[in-house]
Amino acid sequence: MSIDPGNESRRKVTTKSLLGMKRGGERISALTAYDFLMAGLLDRAGVDVILVGDSVAMVVQGVETTVTVTMEHMLYHAMLVSRGVERALVVGDLPFMSYQVNADEALRNAGRMVKEAHVEAVKIEGGEVLCPTVQRLVEGGIPVMGHLGLTPQSIHKFGSYQVRATSEEEADEIRRDAVALQDAGAFALVLEKIPASLAREVSNSLEIPVIGIGAGAGCDGQILVSHDMLGLYTRFKPRFVRHYAQLGADMQEAFEHFVRDVRSGEFPSADESY
Ligand code: KIV
Repeated sequence: MSIDPGNESRRKVTTKSLLGMKRGGERISALTAYDFLMAGLLDRAGVDVILVGDSVAMVVQGVETTVTVTMEHMLYHAMLVSRGVERALVVGDLPFMSYQVNADEALRNAGRMVKEAHVEAVKIEGGEVLCPTVQRLVEGGIPVMGHLGLTPQSIHKFGSYQVRATSEEEADEIRRDAVALQDAGAFALVLEKIPASLAREVSNSLEIPVIGIGAGAGCDGQILVSHDMLGLYTRFKPRFVRHYAQLGADMQEAFEHFVRDVRSGEFPSADESY
């Protein structure tokens, strides 16, 4: 697949062009995908960043947390997504324990995401303590997106998915971690479920783009889990999710209609037969 170079709005998104968007005051749109079909729809809609999130655990695999996702799962889903994308920047989540042990292991795993699944960048959760790893990946030629605030891979450490950084101490930690990640070479940062005022302050203080999820309107861009915003995943709905469609209900109705038609003999008709 190739992109029409004369069509500005279809120009390939890169880590550099995202930086340019921030400098030019252009907001960045980001959504998650886990397969070819959804990735193609997002890409053709003009989404700038497509994240192959480890949220695949909840919305595709049907488990309660992201901690059980493996490298093999992420490689598989990232490969499917990359096949469907021409324009957007494809970022792959590194799963829990694929980058925390040491920088060598992180580089090996991030390298697999790029070589085998064709992502263009990886995302990791955590602050200052991961900066040597970020540096290592960036020196190895792999762009890194940071992720601070609510970091779902640490659910067992925090014990809940509540809003983070409501204390001044935790807010200060986020401020420090954000600068440290930028200095280590991260090209962008996700801030999840923190007060809007803090997210705006961090976004304004950094050169790199800050993409918010549940972090208010002051970020340089916004990301949501596609299955949430489409009304496909409805086990719970955080306050920051806006439903842009009710596809779950529509699909349920279509399936029930099919079952009725098969039972009644309405389907198939003569026109649908040979
Ligand atoms: O896994 C994911 O979908 C994410 C987003 C919520 C940012 O990390």
